Amino acid sequence: MSGFRQSVVRWFLTTKKTPPVTVVSGRNTADKLYTDILRKNCKAAFIITSKTVRNKGMLDKLTENLTANGIKSAFFSDIVPDPTIENVERGLSVYNENKCDCVIAVGGGSVLDCAKVIALRAANPHVSVKMMSLYVVPCKKSVPIFAVPTTSGTGSEITFFSVITDAKKHKKLPLLSDRYLPEKIVFDSALLENVPQKPTVYAGLDALTHCIEAFISTNAKTFAEDVVSAHEVCRDIFAYLPVVAKEPRNEEARLKMAEAAYKAGLNFRRTGVGFVHAIAHRLGETYHIPHGLACAAVLPHVLEKLLPEAQNRLKRLAVKSGTAKSAEAFIEKIRALERTLGIPENFSEINERDFPVMIRRILSEAATQGCPKRLDAKEIEAILKSLKAD
Ligand SMILES: [Fe+2]
Repeated sequence: MSGFRQSVVRWFLTTKKTPPVTVVSGRNTADKLYTDILRKNCKAAFIITSKTVRNKGMLDKLTENLTANGIKSAFFSDIVPDPTIENVERGLSVYNENKCDCVIAVGGGSVLDCAKVIALRAANPHVSVKMMSLYVVPCKKSVPIFAVPTTSGTGSEITFFSVITDAKKHKKLPLLSDRYLPEKIVFDSALLENVPQKPTVYAGLDALTHCIEAFISTNAKTFAEDVVSAHEVCRDIFAYLPVVAKEPRNEEARLKMAEAAYKAGLNFRRTGVGFVHAIAHRLGETYHIPHGLACAAVLPHVLEKLLPEAQNRLKRLAVKSGTAKSAEAFIEKIRALERTLGIPENFSEINERDFPVMIRRILSEAATQGCPKRLDAKEIEAILKSLKAD
């Protein structure tokens, strides 16, 4: 990230207001969104979701209720896992063709990211995605968004960032805006319980990483009000992630995990993350290791290297969450949780040949974050070596 862009991000995060968003949770709560849409005087909802959710008929009751209340609806589900500019532009065309005036986003991080940007483009038709990614073009507030996250991990429903890929240039464009936050966030257990075990576990450990990296960040003092719920996030993930892994239809555990991931999103949306994410991003782009799995595998290694600098903050989080009595014991608890959840410690695809490029990019990304200690190239190489299968 250029020095100029870094300064703009810093200015944005320290000056923007963070208005509260209404959050509701329960069974079949998404079906009742028509009441909020009527209240906003909207007439046509643009439902952005995955093909799976749509094809399984999981939103039939929602669309039935919309129609019964005089609200038209149009579906859009042409979204790839790392959504592209083309996905946004195609979505915007369908939105306009159907004369929609609000967005219902039902899905995981990719769907939510794409929906946020489509809603922002709909309100700002003359500002392209590329212009939005420059951070300097003022935008009007997006059309109303109603977010229904179906995975519990990214926190995209409440974060300021969205990532859209420029497929032609093979480049990810990070967007930063407070103009596409949802009107309402709905956690519907009937949708959450359909997520398979592995993505559930990976997403939960991604959320745990968000919360821990934010809490030990040097930015946590500046945004102290954002990290006040960190101990609740840790407590609930340790308690409920093993439950949802075994009992996918446990409603209480599903909703607790959804709320934990949302709160973790609040924790890190201004504070940022750190070396765990910087390393995990490289494992993702180089070997396509899923983001949450990469974060989980890297987390205990990085925390060990951050001692003693992060000792006090880690201990405070461990004690307040009731997880452990010391920073070292906390790291051991994380390892034990990950073993229970079947997270591998090594990856056969990791190859030393790739280390120089990866390390350069890790250092560059981490330089923009409030890491409690700057790991050097040797320390990062040691982590990568310990993740590599013999
Ligand atoms: Fe993450």
